[in-house]
Amino acid sequence: MPLPTDRLVLRAVQADDDGMLTRIWTDPDVRRYMGGSVPQDVVRQRNRDFVGKPGKYCVTLRVTGQPIGLLGIGQDHRSGHLEVSYGLLPEHWRRGYAQEAILALLAWAFDRLPDTDVIVANTRADNAPSRQLLQAIGAQFVESFGEGGEESVMYAMTRREDPTSV
Ligand SMILES: CC(C)(COP(=O)(O)OP(=O)(O)OC[C@H]1O[C@@H](n2cnc3c(N)ncnc32)[C@H](O)[C@@H]1OP(=O)(O)O)[C@@H](O)C(=O)NCCC(=O)NCCS
Repeated sequence: MPLPTDRLVLRAVQADDDGMLTRIWTDPDVRRYMGGSVPQDVVRQRNRDFVGKPGKYCVTLRVTGQPIGLLGIGQDHRSGHLEVSYGLLPEHWRRGYAQEAILALLAWAFDRLPDTDVIVANTRADNAPSRQLLQAIGAQFVESFGEGGEESVMYAMTRREDPTSV
């Protein structure tokens, strides 16, 4: 990191990303399938904690540097695999940015972690945009499971000979 793609740069979270982060935690459209808006005290704490945190990346527009979302990679305690998480500000949806960012992160992770062959993503079963996105990048449905009273689903992305074609 920083990791450039055609239209984006993925980089560590900075203190001045707090405006974008606050929207990621509180915007009703972003939070629709993620338990709703997060309380203000938690928002402030998370914003502080995420600055420079390994595995938490700000998605920015390459041309302007504008922060448009958050990408994460960390251990999924349920499956034991690495897990990616993602959220973009709604005005940037449906432009292929999430797909571009996740594919770049996967290629980067598979390149640096030779013992990692599977990276998963968990999402609520009724989060159609997220499931469509995962299918669009070639992730395979693995299983459904219950979490917090909701049905969730796990998808898996596997290492390919050319990781950019995941
Ligand atoms: C899920 C999310 C990250 C998708 O981001 P995005 O940048 O709009 O996704 P992309 O533009 O890269 O979409 C790639 C593909 O995913 C699918 N897709 C994405 N959003 C979709 C939607 N609303 N409806 C149907 N398909 C969708 C499409 O196949 C799309 O390709 P296409 O536009 O060529 O048809 C975004 O909706 C978001 O931030 N949601 C809120 C946070 C969230 O729910 N995160 C997942 C929590 S686990």
